[in-house]
Amino acid sequence: MLQIQENVSLKNFNTFGVEAKARYFVEINHKDDLVELFMDPQWKQTETLILGGGSNLLLINNFDGLVIRINIRGIEHRISHNDVFIEAGAGEVWNDLVNFCVIREYAGLENLSLIPGSVGASPIQNIGAYGVELKDVFYSCCAFELATGTFKTFTKEDCRFDYRESVFKSELKGQYIIVSVKFHLSLIPNFNLKYGAIEHELNNRGISAPTIKDVSQVVSYIRVSKLPDPSTIGNAGSFFKNPVINADVFTKLQANFPDIVNYPAGNGLIKLAAGWLIEQCGWKGKMVGHTGTWKNQALVLVNHGGASGAEVYSFSSQIIDSVYTKFGVTLQREVNIIS
Ligand code: FAD
Ligand code: EPU
Repeated sequence: MLQIQENVSLKNFNTFGVEAKARYFVEINHKDDLVELFMDPQWKQTETLILGGGSNLLLINNFDGLVIRINIRGIEHRISHNDVFIEAGAGEVWNDLVNFCVIREYAGLENLSLIPGSVGASPIQNIGAYGVELKDVFYSCCAFELATGTFKTFTKEDCRFDYRESVFKSELKGQYIIVSVKFHLSLIPNFNLKYGAIEHELNNRGISAPTIKDVSQVVSYIRVSKLPDPSTIGNAGSFFKNPVINADVFTKLQANFPDIVNYPAGNGLIKLAAGWLIEQCGWKGKMVGHTGTWKNQALVLVNHGGASGAEVYSFSSQIIDSVYTKFGVTLQREVNIIS
């Protein structure tokens, strides 16, 4: 029997730690619970918010609808020659899945160690870190369609993954609930060690032939040194995406700002480091009211305690304005704004 609660505080359900109340709240432990829930016509007409770990959203107001917290568990694995197929429930904690694979020496998820949140949210923005994106290991996912009450399988092509993007964040936004994700991993590692400080840190540790566990540990170590722990200081990781601009615009920008941090993004496009742009505008480590940017990573907005979602949002608008004024580049928010 599903338990629908009323007027539930979401403060402990979002890593920014902002206060907001859900008019209705339900926890889903099994995919068939969704079928049961949406047999009731009341919920078909109610606005819904799907919630995993709450680590990539900013709640601006109380939510006057039904919050559906996904807690579907279970990890299954099958090995065929050197291929490993894993299917995980959407409510599994992402890093628990990473550890499950690292311990068994299944390769592919190690660079994505320590990303907060749930398995079910991982395809939404095609999570990525240290040169690997979800799309590199994604096989398919199963999702519940709210309008029809049926389940559909999405292949990698169906998901239309891009940098911090998927079909679930654009055309199909709010229309499907992911209930499980299937991954294609391998028993033979194909390490991606070029990004960031991974190689440097492996050298520091005297490791020349790293194991999957070594890479996972090094990635976790680097992340902890840069990013604030949400259990201590509220945040949702990078608040903005790194802007991707065309080469002509970049050449003009670089003429004025020779040190501008940039990476090739394919198809003649250039990705800029939003953290650098924000730092150059003087925001790094700045505290404004109850909010601010993180002292080690200007791309991360934080709640110093007692900030409201509206306050964080308004601060983010100030940053967008000042980056635009200095560089003529418009930052896009990565975090999902729930208003
Ligand atoms: P939530 O915040 O609960 O939801 C995010 C969005 O997905 C919402 O729109 C929600 O409605 C939707 N959603 C959630 N679950 C489902 C579902 N089952 N079906 C349909 N829709 C759903 N991200 C990266 O990509 N790379 C990083 O390196 C990274 N580092 C981070 C570091 C920190 C300290 C923090 C706090 C966040 C970081 N993030 C990073 C962002 C975040 O961890 C990811 O976006 C993560 O996938 C969010 O998972 P979640 O379960 O918390 O999603
Ligand atoms: N930089 C600065 N100042 C700062 C922050 C960054 O100058 O305050 C410059 C530095 O030159 C640094 C470069 O920006 O070398 C890149 O910084 P970093 O390696 O920290 O990565 P990022 O581009 O800021 C992205 C992702 C992260 C992911 C890391 C590692 C986005 C929006 N963010 O951050 O993902 O963990 O790379 O791969 O793409 C997230 O999405 O929430 C997230 C944390």
